[in-house]
Amino acid sequence: MGHLSQSVHIREPRRRFNIFNRYLLSSIGLVYILINFSLLPRLNWRSQPATAYLLAKQQKELDTYLTKCHNFYQAPVSYDLPPSANRTNPRYNKNSGQSKAIVLQNTTLFDGHSTLDYNVDIHFNNGVITGIFPTSDELVIEEDEHITIFDLEGKFVTPGLVDMHSHHLGTPHPSFSITDDLNEIHPDSGPLTPFARALDALKPYDQSATIIASGGVTSSLILPGSANIIGGEAVAVKNVLLSGENREQVVEELLLEDGVPHQSRRRYIKIACGENPSRVYGHTRMGTAWLFRNQMSKAQEIQRQQDNWCSAAAAAYEQGDNGSIEKLIQRGLPQDLGLELLVSVLRGQVGVNIHCYEPQDMEAMIRHSEEFEFHIQAFHHALEAWRIPEMLKNAERNITIATFSHFAHYKHEAYDSNLYAGKILAEHGVSVAYKTDGSAEDFNSKFLLSQAAEGHSFGLPEEMALQSVTSTPAKSLGLDHRIGYVQAGYDADIVIWDSHPLSNGATPLQVYIDGVSTLPSDRLQESLNLSSSQKSRMHPPNAPQMRPQSEKSVQDSVREAIKVGAKIVVSGIQSVLVPFSGFDVPAHGNLTIVLERGRVVCIGLPKDCLIVANDVVHLDLKNGHIIPGLTALVHHMGLSEIEMESISGDGSVAPQPMNAKELDVTYAKHGLRIEGKDINRARLGGVTRAVVAPMISTMTENSFLQGVSTAFKTSGNQTILDGAIIKDDVALHFVIGQSGKTSSTPTISAEISRLRELLSTSHEPDTVFSRVANGSLPLVAHVLNHHDILHLIKVKRDYPEIYLVLFGATEAPLVAAQLAKEQIPVIFTGLRPMPDTWETKDVLVGPPLTVSPIKVLVDAGVNFGIAQAHWADSGIHLLAIDAGFAKRTTDLTAQQAVDLVSRKVNEILRLDKHASSQQEDFVIYESDPLEWGAAAVLTVDGSLNSIVESWPDSS
Ligand SMILES: *[C@@H]1O[C@H](CO)[C@@H](O)[C@H](O)[C@H]1NC(C)=O
Ligand SMILES: *[C@@H]1O[C@H](CO)[C@@H](O)[C@H](O)[C@H]1NC(C)=O
Ligand SMILES: *[C@@H]1O[C@H](CO)[C@@H](O)[C@H](O)[C@H]1NC(C)=O
Ligand SMILES: *[C@@H]1O[C@H](CO)[C@@H](O)[C@H](O)[C@H]1NC(C)=O
Repeated sequence: MGHLSQSVHIREPRRRFNIFNRYLLSSIGLVYILINFSLLPRLNWRSQPATAYLLAKQQKELDTYLTKCHNFYQAPVSYDLPPSANRTNPRYNKNSGQSKAIVLQNTTLFDGHSTLDYNVDIHFNNGVITGIFPTSDELVIEEDEHITIFDLEGKFVTPGLVDMHSHHLGTPHPSFSITDDLNEIHPDSGPLTPFARALDALKPYDQSATIIASGGVTSSLILPGSANIIGGEAVAVKNVLLSGENREQVVEELLLEDGVPHQSRRRYIKIACGENPSRVYGHTRMGTAWLFRNQMSKAQEIQRQQDNWCSAAAAAYEQGDNGSIEKLIQRGLPQDLGLELLVSVLRGQVGVNIHCYEPQDMEAMIRHSEEFEFHIQAFHHALEAWRIPEMLKNAERNITIATFSHFAHYKHEAYDSNLYAGKILAEHGVSVAYKTDGSAEDFNSKFLLSQAAEGHSFGLPEEMALQSVTSTPAKSLGLDHRIGYVQAGYDADIVIWDSHPLSNGATPLQVYIDGVSTLPSDRLQESLNLSSSQKSRMHPPNAPQMRPQSEKSVQDSVREAIKVGAKIVVSGIQSVLVPFSGFDVPAHGNLTIVLERGRVVCIGLPKDCLIVANDVVHLDLKNGHIIPGLTALVHHMGLSEIEMESISGDGSVAPQPMNAKELDVTYAKHGLRIEGKDINRARLGGVTRAVVAPMISTMTENSFLQGVSTAFKTSGNQTILDGAIIKDDVALHFVIGQSGKTSSTPTISAEISRLRELLSTSHEPDTVFSRVANGSLPLVAHVLNHHDILHLIKVKRDYPEIYLVLFGATEAPLVAAQLAKEQIPVIFTGLRPMPDTWETKDVLVGPPLTVSPIKVLVDAGVNFGIAQAHWADSGIHLLAIDAGFAKRTTDLTAQQAVDLVSRKVNEILRLDKHASSQQEDFVIYESDPLEWGAAAVLTVDGSLNSIVESWPDSS
């Protein structure tokens, strides 16, 4: 059990092997009680002594009980909307609070509801927005000692983003198992821990709050994990450290409702259904449901006893029945601290947030909510909610679906996800919020906004996409009187963006929390490289488009043309990043390309590619782009379909014995199965080639010797018998670092020694180890930490024959000069890193806090390509978006950026050695694939000269 419970994770889902090891009132009794208690206010029972003869001690007890009785029947405090412009921010204090009034002049404002069609000036003071006024030349405000004015020249401004599902502060960075206070897993308490409070786990030193805020995320709901059926109480924070009167590490001062009387604060509960509790505790869904219902019924019983006591007290009071009062005091108000949160849920005083993925599990929870009469605030993760929007809407007043834009497939209940889920839910009137499950690298909360951007690209309307990370979660949490909007009366949580917030890589230029700026301007200058060509992106462009969808008739005629071998003429090509030998192709212009059975027969100006034939299909693009097919170094795609279900694929490699022999080496080529949802997404994203090494599971132990990777085509048009494998043996993979610690390599030094030993032992010729030793087979070392990288560089110095490639290398920017000097190539995954473990505590987190890690590698001259860090490959369709992201923070050209995810990877992994004479794979897109909203239209396999995909679509 110990082993299992440690590896089930549940900060949904948290990997152990990180890229490697990282890791209202609702009660039945209400009406009755209200009648009885309607007497109480008139009795002024709180302060008046009950009876003259009660002892002071008894009187005190009675007062306490009656105050509790009173509070039982209070609805959560409600606030007028919109809030009044002169309200005060309870978090404000004179020492660390906003010191001067600020005016942001001439902004393009998404105010939480919509994007205003005129520019406005935003005024805020003492942490509260005091007014929004149309920008005009006439309104002249003078800067003085009380007021600072910034002219934003039309820059885009949004409310601070709201992430309604995070775990930072509770599990701080860098993480240690001893500071990981996520799930209260203990044999004494079992899966029902409503008494556990995230509040009691917050660490006000966690710098990840600062990193997260630098992505514009100003408020987060910090939840307990989802290992338990009832995980405990969640709490809302603002992502700003040391914001109190004395700038000390005080938990209270992190709280969004710091300064609000305790009795008036919002409360939230975390409940989980489905696989996580089952995995940890071994219950079936039947058992999980029973445990939950049984616990709710215990809470209901307490509630009933309390109601009885309170109404008896009210009646005794009314009748002046001193004897009864004395008895009631003796009996005491029935209470159970362990169930208090659940009783409050039943009293409608707690926002109910449920981790739940599948339709039948959500339905079960709705069933329970009807049985016990409580409301559900949100289903979290909820990857399959798109299957049941009407059921959700009909069952409950307003359930928010707090979900991921693409992260999926990692376990059974996350398998039936849909990239169009946001659009589908919104079309049915269900509120959609994106959330991160932060804060490890996989779910980097800093990049919450990119999920809204992705949701938008898959059809969620622009304003709803922006709402999905601002006002929608704020409303869901009942905090929409303070956050989620930039309107008069709201907390001054304001983000200034360098571009349209839904564009790829949009980065804050300033983040105000309670009116205080949180980004130091000197860092901004450096990190955003503002002096360079990047200036052009400072102007707010329009929102990126949604992905175009072709009409079915167009798709059908293209497919027919492919079948019969008719010519396909694609016009409107604006950019070509692929050489076509034999053609003199202008890099830009309004070009036409003509394909016949996948062979390019013409590419050039329309007049040069006039085709006179009958059987021609025309595809007229508005903004066509041609780029090479991308190559992805993936984590398990092609070997396993559902990462946590080893029976869905090849399985995971076992830890290797001390004296690993030839026979102990696993070959990915023998486990390949080219199908599945990740591969569909690869096609969607123009990824034509993938390289995969034998899988190391999140569920098993670490591994040091991983095995030999293989390279394959993603098209699925060929099998492993007839050409789907591009290269059988790509490289031998080792894990160096914390995740390489196994029983035979218990230390990193042992890993390095083993590696050296393998390289120095003489092996039979033509064995895998001898090929690695003589450099004919690349040695890929999965490594993160810069010290470990230096040790590998030393290995390379001592064994100059080997061809060493680093994979992952999150801290490579720290040793970029050495890597460049030793000419060690890197497949880098640290595009959006988080210092989530000790092993990666020194990563460059990137703009706006540091210079971009990609820029450091480029400037140092490191030979590198890019791969994704996620252990689930469900984001593989975003590889070109990653290239676009890399381009944003550097001076790379589009060609160079695309090369990072295509040619560079091919070259570093030596995939193209024999193929230089062939046409490379290419993909024709409608719209720029480096920006959100592009769609692959045709994919051509260069080596086969065939169109292998047309309008790939995939949920
Ligand atoms: C705040 O404004 C409201 C009107 O919007 C006014 O009635 C109230 O007196 C004001 N309160 C303060 C403290 O100025
Ligand atoms: C506001 O900014 C836009 C874009 O830079 C500019 O065209 C316009 O003149 C500015 N308006 C004022 C009043 O400064
Ligand atoms: C449900 O949500 C919608 C949209 O957020 C809101 O307008 C409406 O007032 C909500 N209804 C209830 C009953 O909370
Ligand atoms: C590009 O050329 C096509 C004809 O091939 C024409 O219909 C279209 O308007 C042109 N587009 C632009 C932007 O010039």
